[in-house]
Amino acid sequence: MYQRFLEAYPEFATTVTLDDLRATEYSRLDSLRQTYLDYTGGGLYAASQLRDHLALLATNVFGNPHSKNLTSLAMGMRVETTRLDVLRFFNASPDEYMVICTPNSTGALKLLGESYPFELGSVFALTADNHNSVNGIREFARRKEATVAYVPIVAPELRVDESALWDVLKSAPEAPSKLFAFPAQSNFSGVQHPLEWITEARELGWDVLLDAASFVPSNPLDLRQVHPDFVDISFYKIFGYPTGVGCLLVRKASAHKLMRPWYAGGTITFSTVATMDHYLTPGPAAFEDGTVNYLSVPAVTIGIEHIESIGIDVIHTRVMCLTGWLLDQLPTIRHSNGNPVVRIYGPTTTDRRGATLQTNFFDPDGARIDSYVTERMATAERISLRAGCHCNPGAREAALGFTRDDLATCFADTDTMTFDQFRRNIVGKTTGALRLSVGLATNFADVERYLHFARSFIDRPIDEIMKGPAAVGYVGA
Ligand SMILES: Cc1ncc(COP(=O)(O)O)c(C=O)c1O
Repeated sequence: MYQRFLEAYPEFATTVTLDDLRATEYSRLDSLRQTYLDYTGGGLYAASQLRDHLALLATNVFGNPHSKNLTSLAMGMRVETTRLDVLRFFNASPDEYMVICTPNSTGALKLLGESYPFELGSVFALTADNHNSVNGIREFARRKEATVAYVPIVAPELRVDESALWDVLKSAPEAPSKLFAFPAQSNFSGVQHPLEWITEARELGWDVLLDAASFVPSNPLDLRQVHPDFVDISFYKIFGYPTGVGCLLVRKASAHKLMRPWYAGGTITFSTVATMDHYLTPGPAAFEDGTVNYLSVPAVTIGIEHIESIGIDVIHTRVMCLTGWLLDQLPTIRHSNGNPVVRIYGPTTTDRRGATLQTNFFDPDGARIDSYVTERMATAERISLRAGCHCNPGAREAALGFTRDDLATCFADTDTMTFDQFRRNIVGKTTGALRLSVGLATNFADVERYLHFARSFIDRPIDEIMKGPAAVGYVGA
């Protein structure tokens, strides 16, 4: 099989350094017999990242960077170095962008949502394919009486309806402020939306938020090629460690538009109780409430250096070869009657997509096996997948064909609806799908183990599966 794979994807041979690293830096996967296929959920760290971070902490004395003493300055310098490393990683000019430290992507998105100058007449436009942490910005927009406009996505590819996109983006030329948000890569379907939209939307007067959280772990983001106003990142998704640190990249020319709804320790140069005034600190500190996760911040530099030593292009080549093989093989897995075992939601070729595959498994008669049951069956085989809607309700609705009416009943009368009534209405509508995502430490054997797992469903009727151990105690999502 491996030979056939190499013939189909000869460029995989250029990524063998990652097989070596798998045996050293990521050896815990094999020693614990784990097949990890949830890289869109979280990346994996190399063992050396932990060692290097621990050594740094063990051999230095670091204080809170908000002071000017010796230990504080030592830490402050590290934080500033990490900001520059983040800019270098995304090829961003320090003259054009600044890095605001946040706890994660969600923290970055909340910061933007609460600070963006939404008002009556302004517009928040976003693709239906978006993570809930982007969808949630609509609550800030609505509270300020801004219009919220969703751009639909279309099955089976789950790409944006471009004519609807331009209708929305060309509307509201006079809006006092308008923010357009889309993910560079869908965390649901793996679709990569065109980065060309950034320039085009900006030319139409939009501020652009690029949610890059699921794109950057295996694709280069070059901020000299594209110039979104805002970009959110969670570092653990790229190199696994540390958790608890992300960032909002902000174009300096757009930063003045953001208005903080409050101030806090660390964000001001001076504040007074007597006149109730304050001055915000210039630069990123104005957006960093309290003390940043300073002991973890240097681990971001260590993670970036690790990825740079491999090369993001090498990671990209590798994950796309493995994704291509999965896309080739999955449709060949069929029941004896010819019906497919696995259905893929979203693109079925490697064209304009990343290494995230969304699926469901079906029995010979075409009955869908609940993704949570399939996830449990994979768990029994020590394979980590992810079931559910993946915090991306718009993509789920388009993939599974939920209509507005289907969902409206769930929210018909939330004030008086009892929890039982709500549960009855929601039955079947929380159904999700099963995501598989490939990352830098994935090897061919992992992918083959997943395919073997998929083949084990051939000719198994759903009734038999639902009597099996994975379905015991399972009441439905
Ligand atoms: C595309 C996308 N955006 C945002 C997020 C939110 O990231 P976090 O949970 O790290 O804040 C995720 C997480 O999976 C994501 O995939």
